[in-house]
Amino acid sequence: MLYGKRGRNEKILSPSILAADFGYLKEEIEKTSAAGAAYLHFDVMDGLFVPSISFGMPVLQSIKKYTDQVMDVHLMIQEPIRYVEDFASAGADIITVHYEACENLKETIAKIRAVGKKVGVSIKPGTPVTVIEEFLSDIDMLLIMTVEPGFGGQSFIPESLERIKEAREIMEKNARQIDIEVDGGIYLHNIEEVLAAGANVIVAGSAVFKGDATKNVKDFMEILGGD
Ligand code: DX5
Ligand code: ZN
Repeated sequence: MLYGKRGRNEKILSPSILAADFGYLKEEIEKTSAAGAAYLHFDVMDGLFVPSISFGMPVLQSIKKYTDQVMDVHLMIQEPIRYVEDFASAGADIITVHYEACENLKETIAKIRAVGKKVGVSIKPGTPVTVIEEFLSDIDMLLIMTVEPGFGGQSFIPESLERIKEAREIMEKNARQIDIEVDGGIYLHNIEEVLAAGANVIVAGSAVFKGDATKNVKDFMEILGGD
């Protein structure tokens, strides 16, 4: 289930496994689930849209067996429409594509809908938030990158706070309850600011997997108000 009993725009933690020790991936994921993280963030990089390469469908298919967390798949790949079906069958629940990576975003969104998955659209820090306006009736989640996509462990870009507020205002103006996800450089020391600005789905990689994942998730859940 994507939305819990508190309804839409529920505050959710989505740990990014990019920062995990892959030698212990199953155990690390289980810790985040047991400690209350409802989503799991899965960063796919193609070495083209972003400089680095991460992991893809076979890894998703494997980990899907070990957790019932919502698989929050972030495709940092050029023309992601080519892989929508593959990620859907590998176990994605939400498929997020980059506005900047799609020649035809409407068609890409339609393809994600056609395979029955939730639709996310992401914008890089330099992309005006207003580009999202024409897609508001087609998406479930807007992912506002709070670092340049491509690597974990970067610093949060402070201007992102204004961008989150702007996005929430656009949604309110249009009476849309779309989730706003933030990704990059989020820690306990700045999560309250991003929540106050209007974000409700929080990606955290380093802040969860560097150190004790159980304790880190519990600390986040205290702020997010887990059940
Ligand atoms: C960056 C990825 C992020 C990354 C976040 O391109 O999309 O999901 O894993 O990592 P932290 O939380 O370490 O900044
Ligand atoms: Zn991500």
